[in-house]
Amino acid sequence: MDTATKFDAIASAPHPVFGYKSFSLGDFSFERDEYFAHIKWTTVKGKPMSHTMDIGNFLRALMRDVGWGFFYGWVNFDSVFGTTNHYSTVDVFAGTYNKNFKDANADLLQNFPSEQVRVTFVDMLEDWTNEGFDPYAAPQETGTPYGRKNGSNLPAVRRVRQLADRCVGLKGDLAMRTDENGYPVNRAFADVPQDAPELHPEPGFEDQVHAFNLFAYLSRSDVIWNPSFTSVVKHSYMCPTTEEHILPVVHGNDRVEWFFQMSDEISWECSDKTTAEPRARVIMKAGDMAAMPADCRHQGFSPKRSMLLVWENGSPQVVYDIQEGRAPVNPVSF
Ligand code: PHB
Ligand code: FE
Repeated sequence: MDTATKFDAIASAPHPVFGYKSFSLGDFSFERDEYFAHIKWTTVKGKPMSHTMDIGNFLRALMRDVGWGFFYGWVNFDSVFGTTNHYSTVDVFAGTYNKNFKDANADLLQNFPSEQVRVTFVDMLEDWTNEGFDPYAAPQETGTPYGRKNGSNLPAVRRVRQLADRCVGLKGDLAMRTDENGYPVNRAFADVPQDAPELHPEPGFEDQVHAFNLFAYLSRSDVIWNPSFTSVVKHSYMCPTTEEHILPVVHGNDRVEWFFQMSDEISWECSDKTTAEPRARVIMKAGDMAAMPADCRHQGFSPKRSMLLVWENGSPQVVYDIQEGRAPVNPVSF
């Protein structure tokens, strides 16, 4: 692929009443009105199809897909629409991983250079997000996504994931969150101790011996369902995150992920990655660990803001090892 290729989003003029632009990407088009996103496509047999999502749910999912660079594997916005990351190209699909759509030949999947999808999704997210609505925030901590176009919220939608090179708090790496740098303790974590571990490295090892208070760090997160890197060792990424309400996407794995529930409770709905058939419900309480196998899709529900450690294997090779049978789909067999 020619990585120097520049892409521009294909957008219409703003709608005369609602004020939002419409976008097109291959044979998909995207429109928003006061309450909904409408996704339209033409099947390979020429049949016109459409799918409607609540605009708040659509923007929360779109924010994650953009912010995570299409993530690992599948980002399902719901049981119909989503993307699959091939790590230089991206599939955009409607109905492809939904048995009923597939059986009715009502689906469409098209593959694009990642950059083409990215610029389209970024422009759509920036145009469709109104002043006062933050798609990364908990529903109780932000305004409404609904209504006619009313300004924008670029500082919120342009937030980047906080990714440590080695470990939070090391010299030259991500700083601890504080009141002073704009991260007050969240209302749900007022009881979380803010102390720090004592460090006594031998002279010369100050850059290698390190510890920090992860609970304190997470208590000051201003976003939900947005794993960041707090420590990185080769391809082992510790990605803790704070969760509240519903994971805005249904993630379909292309590798195994481990979850460690650090506080409170999340329940997970796990389904078949290809058909969306329900498969398991996993209720995780503080201290529980679980692994999501490489052939499932899953969505979490967190009734109260909670802390979750997601452990990712960031190896670019592991996806192909699993696909070709050299690595297992389940991390443990009983
Ligand atoms: C996941 O898909 O595994 C996932 C995504 C975002 C989170 C937590 C888990 O915040
Ligand atoms: Fe996941």
